[in-house]
Amino acid sequence: MCGIVGYVGKRDCTKVLLDSLAKLEYRGYDSAGVAVFENSEIKVSKSKGRLLELKNKLENEGWIDGCCGIGHTRWATHGEPSDINSHPHGNRRVSIVHNGIIENYQKIKKFLEKKGYTFESQTDTETVAKLLDYYYDGDPMYAIRRVVAEIEGSYALGMVFKEFPNAVYAVRKDSPLIVGVGKDEAFVASDVPAILEYTKDYYLLERDEVVVLKNGKAEIFDIHGMKIEKELQTADFDLEAAEKGGYPHFMLKEINEQPNAVKTTVTPRITDGMPDLSECGLTPERLTRYKNIFVVACGTAMHAGLVGKYVIEQLARVPVTVDVASEFRYRDPILCDEDLVILVSQSGETADTREALRLSKERGADTLAIVNVKGSSIARAADMVIYTHAGPEISVASTKAYMVQISVFYLLAFELAYAKEKIDREECMRLTKQLLRMPDTINEVLQKSEQCKYIASKLVNAGNLLYIGRGLDYALSMEGSLKLKEISYIHSESYAAGELKHGTISLVTDGMPVIAVATQRKLYEKTFSNVEEVKSRGAMVIFVTHENIKADSKTVDYVIGLPSVDDILMPMPAVVPLQLIAYYTSVLKGNDVDKPRNLAKSVTVE
Ligand code: F6R
Repeated sequence: MCGIVGYVGKRDCTKVLLDSLAKLEYRGYDSAGVAVFENSEIKVSKSKGRLLELKNKLENEGWIDGCCGIGHTRWATHGEPSDINSHPHGNRRVSIVHNGIIENYQKIKKFLEKKGYTFESQTDTETVAKLLDYYYDGDPMYAIRRVVAEIEGSYALGMVFKEFPNAVYAVRKDSPLIVGVGKDEAFVASDVPAILEYTKDYYLLERDEVVVLKNGKAEIFDIHGMKIEKELQTADFDLEAAEKGGYPHFMLKEINEQPNAVKTTVTPRITDGMPDLSECGLTPERLTRYKNIFVVACGTAMHAGLVGKYVIEQLARVPVTVDVASEFRYRDPILCDEDLVILVSQSGETADTREALRLSKERGADTLAIVNVKGSSIARAADMVIYTHAGPEISVASTKAYMVQISVFYLLAFELAYAKEKIDREECMRLTKQLLRMPDTINEVLQKSEQCKYIASKLVNAGNLLYIGRGLDYALSMEGSLKLKEISYIHSESYAAGELKHGTISLVTDGMPVIAVATQRKLYEKTFSNVEEVKSRGAMVIFVTHENIKADSKTVDYVIGLPSVDDILMPMPAVVPLQLIAYYTSVLKGNDVDKPRNLAKSVTVE
């Protein structure tokens, strides 16, 4: 939800800001803008549309020449995407960029209107800019302190003040911000990839800390102006990892990175052939203490939790409840200190998941975060954290993050099942071995790319389609359906196969595509009779199953045969064709695969 950057150094600031924003476009891409000091004046350029529009505007209407400034790429919350609503906001004295939502902006606006301020945009951010101007008396730190005391909601703010033409100020509450440091230059950014072209060294800014970039250096203060020394972090991936590397889209690159992502996530957590999560404090003693497990997350991460539920319940016999974070936080959940709440998040910044974490801690439950982004808010706030090592995920549609999230659930389920004596050591080692071999299995499935492309060509003109499955296949279908919806814009629903005849089957008409997932052998016959039901109503059936199962060709139109592993592990290979089908359908429709309409990668607002 919006990306912000700031730069102070010797380079062409406008270029640095644009290049850095390009790495943050996944956070929002409906408009963009920069404010750069030129001859000690704040010069602003902003534009509706992609970053490219802003770049063209700057090239056509005049580049801003300077070495200090701030920039923004937007995902609209208040006010439609337009030039006026684009950031930066402010006036000749102050200019700001903002990521987050100011909840009490109406109240502040009324107050400022009484003081004679006028407003031109519909954004909440403009009120912060004007409030900053109101309190600014020549001392930026004082003005920031006053503003922070008054605004409610989530924010990361980048600010410049006319009287300080060589400085960028920034502060954050619930939206992320990192401070990059290079040789004679310093940066602020919403995420690490923005700075990687220039430096791998950065500080994590905490809530209500203020950073001042000046003279090529970064100084960090608490809100009262006391200087803080912080531990320098080093990015554990390089620019290459955050670039397309020859693939036409990040999504395809990330689908293909899955074998390696699983390897780097799973391998370090195996000791003597057994899962070992003690690194994060999850010892067998601690694990067996929990009476209930809750998994709370959003979107794809929540779908990973659904796989986790089936696997943990099946193997370890511990009840698992999966919740959408935006529901969990408002449903007054019953939690106690014998419960474990697992928060799953690629970005580690998702506002609803973060709040669910806060609530869980408040109610005394232990919290475990399964997170991809190092040092993110959720990772820092949870009692325990297991990092997935997928590397940066740039495509808005999540693929490799899902894969590594479910691989962590397998580790957890195996360890818990063994600790609770539901499976013996031999069985635990056998399952773990299959998990370790999974990168090869996924690689095999990736060879089916052409077949998935062909199937996608049969879907491009569909208006609706259904995904069906039972048990783990149902959990997986939900992810397949979401993937297709978000990037192809084709409406689809995922249904428990056995539930179809309770209403939904009335939707099935001649030629309607139905993607049926049937990898759970004990449920195979049942699922197949549901497939026959849709076929006899005219459906075009795409059937995903084990490669050694021969489905009746009169019933299924296309079969994707998967290499066999234990049924419980089948979601890992089986999700791959669903991702590829969604990807190619989007490509064939000519959509912007990596930046689907209306979406943003990191949802830092409620
Ligand atoms: C879908 C997708 C989203 C995210 C969701 C949670 O492809 O990417 O549904 O999974 O917004 O995001 P994180 O995992 O960052 O909390």
